[in-house]
Amino acid sequence: MSQKQGFFTHETLEKNVGWLIIATIIVVSIAGLVQIVPLFFQHSTTKPDAGIVPYSPLRLMGRDIYIREGCVGCHSQQVRTLQAETERYGHFSTAGESVYDHPFLWGSKRTGPDLARVGGRYSDDWQRIHLRNPRDVVPESVMPSYPWLEKATLPTDDIQARMRALQRLGVPYTEEQIAHAPEELAGKTEEDAMVAYLQGLGLNRRNVRVDATTAATAPKE
Ligand code: HEC
Repeated sequence: MSQKQGFFTHETLEKNVGWLIIATIIVVSIAGLVQIVPLFFQHSTTKPDAGIVPYSPLRLMGRDIYIREGCVGCHSQQVRTLQAETERYGHFSTAGESVYDHPFLWGSKRTGPDLARVGGRYSDDWQRIHLRNPRDVVPESVMPSYPWLEKATLPTDDIQARMRALQRLGVPYTEEQIAHAPEELAGKTEEDAMVAYLQGLGLNRRNVRVDATTAATAPKE
C-alpha cells in the first residue's frame, strides 16, 4: 500500500496498544465530562423541586440515625423510571428531590422495598411497631429489629453543629431555625426522629398522577 504515513496516524493507534489505551482514556474522559459537568449547573439538578424544604431538626436526626443503623444497606430511596416501579412506589425520583441530601441515600440494594415515597403509607403506630419488631406486623419479614431506638433519648447539644455543617454545604437553614433546633428535640427519642423522617419521605409528590404525560415532562425545573 502506498498510503502516506504521517507522524501519528490511525495506524499508530491500531498497532500500539499503549497509545490506544491513552487515546481511549482521553476520549472517554471528555465524553464523560460533557455529560457530567452540565449537571452541576442545570436547574433541574441543583434547585429543589416544589415542596422540597430542608429537613426539620427532628427529621434530620432521624436521617442521621437511618445512616448510623445502615438502613441504606437494604433500602434504596430511588424510584426508577420503569413502569413496574412507578406503579408500585409512585412517581420516579428526580434530582431536585435530593438537593438537600448530604450525603444522598439513593442506595443500590433492595432487600426491602424502596422507601423514597413511604411517607404516609402507614400510620405512625405501624412504623413504631415495625421498627421494634418487624415480625409483629409482617410475619415473614427478614428486617432486623431496632428496639433500642425507642429507649434512646436524642442528644440536643450537637444538632446546631449538624445544621451548620449542612448550611455550609448550601442548605438554606436560617439562624432562627438553628437557634430553636434544640427545643424541638427536647424529650424526643430516636424512634420519634426515625418515624418523623420516614413519614416525610416523598410527601412532595403525593397526588401526582403518573401517566405518559407527566412521565414525559416531570423532570423539568
Ligand atoms: C437486612 C435488611 C434490612 C435492613 C437493614 C432494614 N430493613 Fe427495612 N425492610 C426490610 C425488608 C425485607 C422489608 C419488607 C418486610 C417488612 O415490611 O418488614 C422492610 C420493610 C421496611 C419498611 C416498610 C416499607 C414498605 O413500603 O412496606 C420500612 C418503613 C423500613 N423497612 C424501614 C427500615 C429502617 C428505618 C431501617 C433502619 C433502621 C431498616 N428498614 C433496615 C429489610 C431491611
